[in-house]
Amino acid sequence: MKTLITETDIRDGVARLADDLAVHYGDQPVTIIGVLTGSVVLLADLIRRLEMPLRIGLVYASSYRGEMTTRGPLTIDSDMLPDIAGRNVILVDDIFDTGHTLAEMLKLLGEHQPKSIRSVVLLRKLGRQEVNIQPDHAAFEIPDEFVVGYGLDYNDAYRNLRFIAVLEPGDLAEDSP
Ligand code: IMP
Ligand code: MG
Repeated sequence: MKTLITETDIRDGVARLADDLAVHYGDQPVTIIGVLTGSVVLLADLIRRLEMPLRIGLVYASSYRGEMTTRGPLTIDSDMLPDIAGRNVILVDDIFDTGHTLAEMLKLLGEHQPKSIRSVVLLRKLGRQEVNIQPDHAAFEIPDEFVVGYGLDYNDAYRNLRFIAVLEPGDLAEDSP
C-alpha cells in the first residue's frame, strides 16, 4: 500500500475546509449532513474545527458491493435525515468520484426546502466525473486510483487508517473484517 496523503497533510486540508466554511457562513447556524459510511472520520474532525452553532444529520448511501472497486447501483436511505427546511445545509462526503452520489444527495436534500446547500468532500478524483456538478469545497484532488483510509474502505477494510493510501494488487486480497 502506497501513502498518497499523509496524516499531517489531511489535518491541514481539513483545517482549510473549516476556514472556508467559516468565511462562508460566519456565525450562522448550519446543519451538517454526513454521508455514511465513508464521511464519518472527516465529519468528526471537521465539526471540531467549526465554531458556528451546528446540528448533525446522517444519510446512508452506497454504490459499492463487497470486493469491487467499480460502482454498483446507488442506494440511499434517508430515514435518519433531520428536518432541514429553512436551514443552511452542508453535505459532507469522503470523495467525489463519478459524482452520482453527490448529485443524487443534493437532489434529495433540495426536495426538503433547505435555505441553502453546499457540498464538502475531502477528495476529488480527477478524470472520473459523469455529472454536471462539482463539490463546492474539496480539500485534495487525486489521480484516478482506488484509495483507502480516513473513512474510505475497500470491502469495509482500511477505514481506520490515519492517512490516504492507494491500494496495490496484493491489498485487494484482504478479507472483509
Ligand atoms: P461517486 O458516486 O462515484 O462519486 O462515488 C462516491 C462514493 O464512492 C464515495 O462516497 C465512496 O464511498 C465511493 N468511492 C469512490 N471512489 C472511491 C475510492 O477510491 N476508494 C473508496 N471508495 C470510493
Ligand atoms: Mg461512501
